[in-house]
Amino acid sequence: MSSESGKKRVLVLCALPYTNAVPHVGNIVGSHLPADIFARYCRLKGYQTLLIGGADENGTPTEVAALELKVTTQRLTDVFYAVHKRIYDWFEISYDNFSRTSLPVHHRTTQDFFLRIYEKGFVSAGVLRLPYCENDKLFLADRYILGTCPVCGYGFARGDQCENCATLLEPSQLINPKCKIDGSTPVFRDSENLFLELGKVEGALQTWIKSKEAWRRQVTSLALSWIDEGLKKRSITRDLKWGVPVPLKGYENKIFYVWFDAPIGYISSTKEWAERSGDPEAWKTYWLDPSTTIYNFLGKDNIPFHTIFWPGMLMAHGDFNLPSEVVGLQYCNYEGDKISKSRNWGIFCEKVVESGLAPDIWRYYLTYLIPETKDTEFKWDEFESRVNNELVANIGNFVHRTLTFTSNFLSGVVEPVELGEEDEAVHAKVLAEVDEADRALRDVRIRDAMKNILQVATIGNEYFQRSQPWVLIKQDPARCRQVIYSCVSICRILAVLLDPYLPESSKKIYGFLKLEGRPRWDDVSLPLGRTVIEKPEILFRKLEKPELERVKSIVTKSTDAKDYFR
Ligand code: 2FM
Ligand code: ZN
Repeated sequence: MSSESGKKRVLVLCALPYTNAVPHVGNIVGSHLPADIFARYCRLKGYQTLLIGGADENGTPTEVAALELKVTTQRLTDVFYAVHKRIYDWFEISYDNFSRTSLPVHHRTTQDFFLRIYEKGFVSAGVLRLPYCENDKLFLADRYILGTCPVCGYGFARGDQCENCATLLEPSQLINPKCKIDGSTPVFRDSENLFLELGKVEGALQTWIKSKEAWRRQVTSLALSWIDEGLKKRSITRDLKWGVPVPLKGYENKIFYVWFDAPIGYISSTKEWAERSGDPEAWKTYWLDPSTTIYNFLGKDNIPFHTIFWPGMLMAHGDFNLPSEVVGLQYCNYEGDKISKSRNWGIFCEKVVESGLAPDIWRYYLTYLIPETKDTEFKWDEFESRVNNELVANIGNFVHRTLTFTSNFLSGVVEPVELGEEDEAVHAKVLAEVDEADRALRDVRIRDAMKNILQVATIGNEYFQRSQPWVLIKQDPARCRQVIYSCVSICRILAVLLDPYLPESSKKIYGFLKLEGRPRWDDVSLPLGRTVIEKPEILFRKLEKPELERVKSIVTKSTDAKDYFR
């Protein structure tokens, strides 16, 4: 897994959000935040790392939203792209590139990809029966038709996928289909379209999935169950206007199905990054050199596309690396119910950025909500208690009491000293937590690693309390210096470990310690040298009820989409 420079190379991909609406907090914890924490961890380990994402701007989701809002698709995507970008920047999601699937680089990449698999015989022509709304005068996007799932009987399955059993569907398979926009019953019109012959890669896909022993069981078993049912050919073109045109004679009026072009967006966004960084060929090592490890972060409804459809496309193409890890996340609910913009139930990110609370405060609680193994739930009382009891009273308190003590009683200077037996024991306990955190992060158990980090602060606080440096400074100054040296060392360790989770706070601690450069994971095992510290400010303030009420009143009211276009 090493590159020429001897460094591991990691490509972290975050599912491209549709930009026909504004993200809510479930979208942040369901892909962007875990992808970001993981990418930051990889950088901290010194791996050659890229975090790539972008806006999924094509297809009917966009066309229908534009229709509803009475704006052009171009205007819609321009406005929502900016809204999304601002939100991810605010949350400090460290995208190396956040692209758009409406850009020429993406159109070109998609068309080239298609021509290659077409030439290799993986594409066939056939008739697709597509739902057409006679009221709206358009072919309906698969997601804008609802009906009963032929597999599990769920009443509100979408035309592309049943939300209940995750089966991938074609619109014509739905029982009693209805147009989601106006509730009318669509007619089905036949139309000549192109299909990806997934059956041709079925065996290869099965072998590949079975080889993925480290995948979470729910991901592997879902993927294998679809293969057991037999993979059918899947349509890849649509009779729509907004999207990537099909570069084939006879299909000039069609565009690619949005799920065909969207994952190719991972490649085109990497290309755009390379162009921007001044080395247009740099994307190739990530996609063509098999020593790259690719991690895909996505919500559970995206799992079939990333374990079957996209790898199937990649296998048909033949040149590019397949995902190494498919990190399929579950959902995050809000106070006992599903998040819903139309019911104004949830936390809405365009308001979070105006909440007046620092991104790290949100990131701290949201880390706890990353739905790694099961659905999670945002609760205000838990937000308050986790921030106040853990972030403020444990992590913040330890750093603050250590550094203010150093500043007030030791003139802000700590010199390396030999450690006593107890200090060595404390240090060993801390390093054991660091190792655990490392293992957890390597396995993408992001929440587990945060527990280890909290434990480091707990060990530090207990040690400080027990040692009573405020007594030692008078009675045994040499011992006091030993204790404080150990505590400042632990502060540095915390600064390193917090970097992926709370980047601003980590930077602040680094600043208090006047440490140069970027933190590196390996710094934790190096003894701290002579350190002259800044007089520290408070890292995190306790959240008081009135402030929390104020924040709550802001972030729980979603903005009417129309307001973006006035
Ligand atoms: O579910 C969604 O929001 C899709 N836009 C995800 C696409 S992921 C990838 F393939 F780009
Ligand atoms: Zn179903």
